[in-house]
Amino acid sequence: MDPIYLDHAATTPIDPKVLKVMVETYQNAIGNPSSIHSFGRQARKIIDDARHAIAKYIGAGSREIVFTSGGTEGDNMAIIGAALANRKFGKHIITTKIEHHGVFRTCEYLESQGFDVDYLDVDQTGRISIDDLKSKLRADTILVTIMYGNNEVGTVQPIREIADLLSSHQALFHTDAVQAFGTVDMDVKDTPIDLLSMTGHKIGGPKGIGFLYVRDGVALESFTHGGDQERKRRAGTENVPAIAGLGKAVDIVADHLPERIDACLRVRRVLLKTLDAAEVSYRINGNPEHFLPQVLNLYFPGTQVEALLTKLDLEGIAVSSGSACTAGSVEPSHVLTAMFGTGAPETRSSIRISFGSGSTPELVAQAGTVIARAVRELVESGKAGERL
Ligand SMILES: Cc1ncc(COP(=O)(O)O)c(C=O)c1O
Repeated sequence: MDPIYLDHAATTPIDPKVLKVMVETYQNAIGNPSSIHSFGRQARKIIDDARHAIAKYIGAGSREIVFTSGGTEGDNMAIIGAALANRKFGKHIITTKIEHHGVFRTCEYLESQGFDVDYLDVDQTGRISIDDLKSKLRADTILVTIMYGNNEVGTVQPIREIADLLSSHQALFHTDAVQAFGTVDMDVKDTPIDLLSMTGHKIGGPKGIGFLYVRDGVALESFTHGGDQERKRRAGTENVPAIAGLGKAVDIVADHLPERIDACLRVRRVLLKTLDAAEVSYRINGNPEHFLPQVLNLYFPGTQVEALLTKLDLEGIAVSSGSACTAGSVEPSHVLTAMFGTGAPETRSSIRISFGSGSTPELVAQAGTVIARAVRELVESGKAGERL
């Protein structure tokens, strides 16, 4: 059996149409976009076109898009940039306990620099409470950073309510939309978000490229110093082929969003049906109503996550225990810990299955059968171990 890749929340295979655009750009657009000659102008136009397409898709203006090396850099640029630019108005920041490390560790870094950070709790479905956020907001809060959709359990936060709440407060609103971008319709004018980060490699685009949306008028202190690229917000020669690829990947999302969502929901149902038919005991970690269709986090009582992942890998099924950065380590997921408490069984016995291009119903059903068998064997061997 060929291996089956069900780890699209970690990264996605590049779309052939994106690759084609990138190869053509590598071959044909050799200039530095800052050069004034025709080669430079050709490269500049490629960047401008990609920026325009991206901006249009999220309801932004072209000047509000800053290209970055991906989600982590976008998160750092937004959070550190906003904190430093606004420290005269206060030093209080609010985030959640379930952020990706790109946000979480950036907030911890700012704490070490004298900022005061509140980490909001989430309920057992991974959602924050608006009342809790309201009660934590202070006159000196300068930034609220709350992810759009969670990368481990897929829970989508009440982004509109948060944005509406903050519209009458000085605090800027940043959201890490890295995981939500390809399967949630987002419009930054309709929902008043100040800063939004995304990455290319979760939507069939290249790795090492992304963007940060920065609402017009929002001041950020830049931490790269050098050339005037990206309107002085990110110095350094632009990665033109990657930007062209990112533009194409966003175009594809824009043209196919409902189909992408439907395809993920369909195979999600196929997987759950396969597990039900095999009478495997499981529970979904996440919110039953507000969830990313491509992320399915399952708790299998009586299993142990490392053993299950290893067994599945040997059987050719690539899934994960959580975010790629923590996969492979024995550290329990901070997301599941925030949802269920330290040492809860869900933190030791859950896996993340995530769908994308190539996740056909047939392959997902096949994977479901293997997962069901692996779970049953592990539960049985655990019980046998207890009897010894
Ligand atoms: C929610 C979230 N934020 C940020 C990142 C980091 O993005 P990148 O890998 O482009 O740095 C990831 C990647 O897993 C993610 O899932």
